[in-house]
Amino acid sequence: MKAAPVFEAGSHRWWIIYDQDEHRVIDSNVYVIESNGQSIILDPGGFEIFPQVFAAMVEVIPPSSLKAAFVSHQDPDIASSLPLWHACNDKMEWHVPKLWEGFIRHYGALDAPLQNIPDEGGDVMIGGRRLEFIPAHYLHSSANFHVYDPEAKILFSGDVGAALLPPVMTHG
Ligand SMILES: [Fe+2]
Repeated sequence: MKAAPVFEAGSHRWWIIYDQDEHRVIDSNVYVIESNGQSIILDPGGFEIFPQVFAAMVEVIPPSSLKAAFVSHQDPDIASSLPLWHACNDKMEWHVPKLWEGFIRHYGALDAPLQNIPDEGGDVMIGGRRLEFIPAHYLHSSANFHVYDPEAKILFSGDVGAALLPPVMTHG
C-alpha cells in the first residue's frame, strides 16, 4: 500500500493510504489527517492489511502522533485491525458508532478506549481543529457516520458507492 497527499494547508494535512496491486482481500481506502502534530486515522482497515497500512502510514506521520481512530461502521475490512493498533498505541481513542460497539469489541482489545458516537453525530478535536461526525445511516451500514473537515472542506464518505465488481472491471 502507498500513502499519497490529498490536502495540505500549513500544518493541516490529509493523506490517503490505498492499495496498489495487491488484491488478496477487498480494497480499503484508509485516510490519515494530521493537524498541529496530532493525527487521526479514518477507517483503519482489516487485520489482514494492518502491516501494509502501518508501513505506509509511517512514511508520512510519526505513529506517536496518532491520537484517535474513527470507524465509520462495523465491517471487518474497516475495523478488524483494532487490536493490532491498540497493541501499538493503547492511548488511541476509538470513535465508533454507538450501535456497533458490542460488535466491534468482538475484534479484540476489550480494554481499548472506545468512544461511542451517538446516532445524532458528534465531533473530535485533533490538533486544535474540529472534525465533525455526520450521521449517514444506511450509507452504507445501518449505524454509519461520515467525517467532515470544515477547514479543508473535505467530506470523508466511507463506503458510500462501494461495490463488489468482477475482477476485470476493478483491475482492468
Ligand atoms: Fe462496509
